[in-house]
Amino acid sequence: MKQIYIVGNWKSNKTVQESRAWLDAFSVHLNQLEASGVGKRAVTIVCAPFSDLYAMRQAIQEKHLPIELGAQDVSPFPEGAYTGEISARMIRENAEWVIIGHSERRDKFHENDGELFAEVERAKEAGLRVIYCVPNSETKIPSGVDVVGYEPVAAIGSGHPESPEVANDMIGRIKAASGVQRAVYGGSVNPDNVLSYLSQEAIDGVLPGGASLDPDTFARLIQAALS
Ligand code: PGA
Repeated sequence: MKQIYIVGNWKSNKTVQESRAWLDAFSVHLNQLEASGVGKRAVTIVCAPFSDLYAMRQAIQEKHLPIELGAQDVSPFPEGAYTGEISARMIRENAEWVIIGHSERRDKFHENDGELFAEVERAKEAGLRVIYCVPNSETKIPSGVDVVGYEPVAAIGSGHPESPEVANDMIGRIKAASGVQRAVYGGSVNPDNVLSYLSQEAIDGVLPGGASLDPDTFARLIQAALS
């Protein structure tokens, strides 16, 4: 049975207090989730705002939660005179993962391949694991990527997910062209449709945005993924 990756992407949501309340509520489901294989068959990653990561790491350690943390972006620069930037080394203090190249970063913040490739380099130097998002099978993928996130733009936040068969076909092509071994699908994934993606051969996991914001829904999604 394949190892699956469930990557929650909170986007620009949740204060520190709200992130701790989310972890409290999520921990209620812990016994049931562990009995289903979370931590063994499934790696659960929550990609939270930078400002939440320190407090979340403390709470995850205290409560022994089977959750790994990620950021949603990283500076393409090393540390230094780059006002406003969060370096890979700063993230690595509190998180293991980083999402790079999400379509919202490409569209709304005009991040291009050159910057994104530099972000991957900085992330790898700092020891972060990279989830590199692409909207189609033509987008370039740099070396060093650990997991590809295939996210067709029309499916993101729309309630209109791509069909599991099409997503499987696209992910198969992306894996073959990039040589990256693991890939997840993102775009309107929810507890009711998650299994239809995970039962596809090429798909190793999912990247839910909206369905990760509520701790009970996210726990239900993980439970469904492992059923
Ligand atoms: P969604 O977001 O699950 O709300 O569609 C996915 C994403 O953009 O990561």
